[in-house]
Amino acid sequence: MKKILTLGLLAALLLPTANADEGMWIPMLLGRNQAAMQKAGMHITAKDIYDINNACLKDAVILFNQGCTGEFVSDQGLFLTNHHCGYYYITSNSTVEHDYLTHGFWAKNRSEEIPCRGLTATRLVRMEEVTNQVLRGVSDNMPEEERERVVKENIVVVCTEAVAGTHYKAVVKPFYYGNQYFLYVNEVFTDVRLVGAPPSNIGKFGGDTDNWMWPRHTGDFSMFRVYAGPDGKPADYSKDNQPYRPLKHLDISLKGVDEGDFTFVFGYPGTTQRYVTHQQMELQAMQENPVRIALRDIRLKHYKAAMELTPSQRLKYASKVASIANGWKKWQGETQGIVRLKGIEQKKEQERTFQTWAADRPQYGGVLAELDRTYGRLAPVELEWTYFNEAVMASDFMQRANSLRKLADLTDPEEARTAADKLIAANEKYFSDFDQHTLVDRAIFVETFLYMHHQGYAPYIDPMVKGKQIAEQFLGSVYDQSMLTHRDKMDKLLKKYTPKQAAELEKDPALKLFRAAMENAYTDDKERTYDYNKQQIARLMRTYVRGMMQQYPDSNFFPDANLTLRVAYGHVKGFRPHDGVYYLPYTTLDGIMEKEDPNVYDYVVEPRLKELYRLKDYGRYANRNGELPVGFIATNHTTGGNSGSPVLNADGQLVGINFDRCWEGTMSDLLFDPDYCRNICLDIRYCLFIIDKFAGAHHLIDEMTIIQ
Ligand code: ARG
Ligand code: GLU
Repeated sequence: MKKILTLGLLAALLLPTANADEGMWIPMLLGRNQAAMQKAGMHITAKDIYDINNACLKDAVILFNQGCTGEFVSDQGLFLTNHHCGYYYITSNSTVEHDYLTHGFWAKNRSEEIPCRGLTATRLVRMEEVTNQVLRGVSDNMPEEERERVVKENIVVVCTEAVAGTHYKAVVKPFYYGNQYFLYVNEVFTDVRLVGAPPSNIGKFGGDTDNWMWPRHTGDFSMFRVYAGPDGKPADYSKDNQPYRPLKHLDISLKGVDEGDFTFVFGYPGTTQRYVTHQQMELQAMQENPVRIALRDIRLKHYKAAMELTPSQRLKYASKVASIANGWKKWQGETQGIVRLKGIEQKKEQERTFQTWAADRPQYGGVLAELDRTYGRLAPVELEWTYFNEAVMASDFMQRANSLRKLADLTDPEEARTAADKLIAANEKYFSDFDQHTLVDRAIFVETFLYMHHQGYAPYIDPMVKGKQIAEQFLGSVYDQSMLTHRDKMDKLLKKYTPKQAAELEKDPALKLFRAAMENAYTDDKERTYDYNKQQIARLMRTYVRGMMQQYPDSNFFPDANLTLRVAYGHVKGFRPHDGVYYLPYTTLDGIMEKEDPNVYDYVVEPRLKELYRLKDYGRYANRNGELPVGFIATNHTTGGNSGSPVLNADGQLVGINFDRCWEGTMSDLLFDPDYCRNICLDIRYCLFIIDKFAGAHHLIDEMTIIQ
């Protein structure tokens, strides 16, 4: 019995098509999933979700900049997204005196809302398949470069025609490695204002310690408002702009969800790699991830130590550390997940099955062997560049050396003047807390280079080391002697700089080191190898994926995420992360109190929140056990970019905000396992409780449509 079960499970995992709960589906084609979604518990129809003729749920969903999702919750353009998505706008509007990051921010009225320059909110107007137009003039045996050129030209034509005479913007995106193309016609709003954010010990409760983890208690939300011109169309910031009136905003349900309930996530997943071969999986999970993790260990160690010292240093490094730590932790979970699932073995097995099928199909027979050779050439270059990005570019010092290099390369006096002036201006900022930052940046610079050196990826260092120095001393002296750490010297040279003095710049030890690193990693030969093999992989993967779709004609293949609007559906469900451990699917305020630790920054609890807890003053936001729900997990297939996405119930009402995945399932970008992969959602009741009871921002609650 056990054996049969295992075999059955293995067979299911081996299929290159979607497992139960796996998949990020195209809204326009959701009719194909409707039966399955309704069987899974959904009460609404595919047309309620996406419909070009009527206002529908898609009109309530926006792309927040180019990396998060948001959802309208009022007819006045008010929308919700994650705290970590709004993070940059919260921190950059904070000072030590007005520290919105620490204390939160609630605009009491429209005039207090803070314009966020550069922030965009994009609404999908409609989408359309345009494969035939995009592939016009493309033939199978055309060189890949030629194909890329023709496709690019066709896309320009398609986009231009699609938006002619409108204020819309168009993009075309490839699906299934360029076997299919879709056009997206968008409306891009550029006047977006910060409306509210909880204090960071709510919005980021648990910090990087709890990041990617369940059980979770993060109140990860912030609120913004879209403004439009008097005609209701997108317009750049102006005080005359009016709140945008969305075609649709979401109803919010206070009923909550229970284990087993149907949910779906509607948002903008960024990238997945569901169909790659074992070589790509091995390169990422077994070679690149360990390098990135080790090098980020070094950076994190130094930044975190500095952050413990003073509040201003905490603020200075907070955003940087959050983003470095995010990838660092995810990659650890990803690699462990691939190992646990024997992902590479699974891929190889799939490839064997494909090879058998392809044996008498000439166009597919050689694809896998060719992919193998191609990866053999690509992988070493890619790994080397991973070192470059994570080690050479790790310190501000080397990033500034790169700016010096760019200046030295300029031959036009005017361009050089502009660049030099920019550097002088940057010095102003850089040197403002130079003494403190030096300790951190110098250590990061020296240690990351040393690590790379010890791994054999910086062969240029040995010949540069002088006399009795060891590599570490040499690196330290580069830091100490470079003009980059001597403002007077640097400003003096820059103020009168003309391209004739390029030789002066070239004498700088930091620039010398940076050039050596560049010349080592980015030779013409390596660049050509990379470009050529990437193109080959694009072509081979296009063929391989087309082949798999023919091999399993009855299966529903979902296209990899590509930052286009998708629907993922599943159920609220706990899981077993380890032997003997079961995770319940929801958390409550009680858990926040359990985690409370006044001495640990990540676990400080606001006095006001404690008071509400003591009084059990949860109002209509309590669940039926009288607890205040905080988070829940479900089997919706999500990835980076889905942050801030609405989590909807069977009736299409808002019940949560997606913000993370469980660490044990972060391999889902490559390999989805229904037993381990869970998305993490903020329960909308906790979000409303914070706005209403904690912050007293009743005027925002009044704008929303809340269903008891
Ligand atoms: N892991 C989440 C995501 O991938 C949240 C990241 C922000 N939070 C943090 N503690 N760094 O983006
Ligand atoms: N926090 C992630 C975000 O940006 C979502 C988590 C994930 O990768 O699933 O987009």
